[in-house]
Amino acid sequence: MKKARVAVLLSGRGSNFVALQEAMARGEVPAEIVLVVANEPGAPGLEKAGGFGIPTAALPHRGLPRREHEERVVEVLRRAEVEWVCLAGYMRVLSPYLIGEFPQRILNIHPSLLPAFPGLDAQQQAWDYGVKVSGCTVHLVDGGVDTGPIVTQRAVETEGLASSDELAARILEEEHRIYALALRRLLTESWRIEGRRVVFAPMFS
Ligand code: GRF
Repeated sequence: MKKARVAVLLSGRGSNFVALQEAMARGEVPAEIVLVVANEPGAPGLEKAGGFGIPTAALPHRGLPRREHEERVVEVLRRAEVEWVCLAGYMRVLSPYLIGEFPQRILNIHPSLLPAFPGLDAQQQAWDYGVKVSGCTVHLVDGGVDTGPIVTQRAVETEGLASSDELAARILEEEHRIYALALRRLLTESWRIEGRRVVFAPMFS
């Protein structure tokens, strides 16, 4: 199977990027990360990408109109012939312009069971609320904040955990598993969007 060309967009440490890269290297996902883009030039994820020999682009957003910044992002994605975009701790909301450049080909991972606790500090929000179950979600990106159709979710119980940091660490373990699983399914199975639903269907030959 031909490998899908994936770009990862990140702003920080990049542990989800590393998990994706390692899953691909183990042959678990028929894809290769051909570019890592960061809007924060000092993002540790960029250095990690360099360590894997993956091309990187630091494209700071500060001082630029959103559209201009996104045009720069799209330009590097096009130049790298990117087919899929994985957001991994990318702290920018995408505009309809960027989303429209890669329709149904942009994924995000969020550290809660959406639609609970969208936005920032989801693990702290869940902890403060006192939930017994939280988790993580991989979803296709639409114009909202953590609102797109859900591809995969994984639950994490809070019982026995002592702090939101412990919850975040447990959720992160599951994030590292489900991001690759979600991408693998989208690349290897037949699927369609029905309303808000991502429906996987058996392949017909
Ligand atoms: C993860 O918790 C992810 O769910 C959220 O941002 C965090 C990024 O972590 N969107 P990392 O940079 O992948 O380590």
